[in-house]
Amino acid sequence: MYIMRKHANAAAHASRSHAPYLVFRDICSTIAALCRIVLVERNDFMTAPIRIAVTGGAGQIAYSLLFRIGNGELFGADQPVILQILEIPPAMEALSGVVMELQDSAQPLLQNIIISDDPRVAFQDANWAILVGGMPRGPGMARSDLIAANGPIFVAQGKALNQCAADDIRVLVVANPCNSNCLVAKANAPDIPPERFFAMTRLDENRAKSQLAQKAGALVGDISRLAIWGNHSSTQFPNFEHALINRAPAETIIDDRAWLENVFLSTVQERGAAIIRARGLSSAASAANAALDSIRSLISPSQPGDWFSAAIASDGNPYGIADGLIYSFPLQNGDNSNVEIVEDLPISDYARRKMRASETELMQEREAIRDLL
Ligand code: NAD
Ligand code: LMR
Repeated sequence: MYIMRKHANAAAHASRSHAPYLVFRDICSTIAALCRIVLVERNDFMTAPIRIAVTGGAGQIAYSLLFRIGNGELFGADQPVILQILEIPPAMEALSGVVMELQDSAQPLLQNIIISDDPRVAFQDANWAILVGGMPRGPGMARSDLIAANGPIFVAQGKALNQCAADDIRVLVVANPCNSNCLVAKANAPDIPPERFFAMTRLDENRAKSQLAQKAGALVGDISRLAIWGNHSSTQFPNFEHALINRAPAETIIDDRAWLENVFLSTVQERGAAIIRARGLSSAASAANAALDSIRSLISPSQPGDWFSAAIASDGNPYGIADGLIYSFPLQNGDNSNVEIVEDLPISDYARRKMRASETELMQEREAIRDLL
């Protein structure tokens, strides 16, 4: 009562002698109301963050990947994110430096950064897990030489994902040999639907598009329907027989089958090794870029008539590849998360031989990790 009367008196007094103050007050409250509307429309306080677990956070690939996720390149400019970063104990100090840099980037969408050397903490409630952590190969090594060092990592990580991740978890394996590591993670996460596991062959697809574009004098954006089949290894098959350049079959634009079968194929298959020879380190920025491309393709509808590459569980595939592998196929995303293998593509004898060679290699890798499955 007293307060109301006091206010009433004050208002009467103000209306007589403080008119300019009242105008000023009204302007302030209008501005405040407008600010509230803008903030609500921007959804700043309404959209739940997406939790993205990234392993190998102190490594080369993560040094590009984390910052690009933080600035909204993956899930869009209105989608807050939380990074949950895993490292091994000896790399935690280096990771703390990366965290300082993430903080210093002041990215408005990055709501929180959690770091741990325990996969159960890093994967807690994660909606996406990008598994980058592991040894890279050095000069003279094949990617499959990493299987003994890196394979076991995915036993513990598969179990932790199974136990702790969000119900909608999806997993992209980058660390090599990525197809077989993905198989290990999937085998150790029996409660996660198998179709949520992907191994990255998008870097190979991007490399293949770039090679075709350079040869044809076209732009990479002019190349479509170019998929990688098989393993992320030197047996992979970038199938140029289906590829289009400006909607025309690639072979009608690049009228040089010998170049396609030899130079093109081996350039793409051996590109990782060429980068290691030149840089002394394996590809990093292009690998991070391909991880973003992969996930964007997995979460958004595909361009009509086009497709993209990722390695997925081969079980029941329409091309006669053995079940029980993680094999790269042409994929299409119909309605945001319903990723399917493109069916009914014609397969020549030549392509069949290439597809089989990669399948055989993957079966051999699977034998080497039988005890991890
Ligand atoms: P890097 O050595 O720079 O970084 C790897 C990081 O992983 C290191 O910081 C290391 O401490 C960490 N790590 C190791 N074991 C771990 C574990 N159990 N849990 C969490 N973190 C762990 O290597 P990089 O250049 O970033 O490459 C990472 C991996 O990605 C390598 O295996 C590499 O061969 C592979 N790769 C794959 C592709 C592809 O196209 N699929 C492309 C490039 C690189
Ligand atoms: C690549 O393709 O660049 C990576 O897989 C790294 C490597 O070992 O080739």
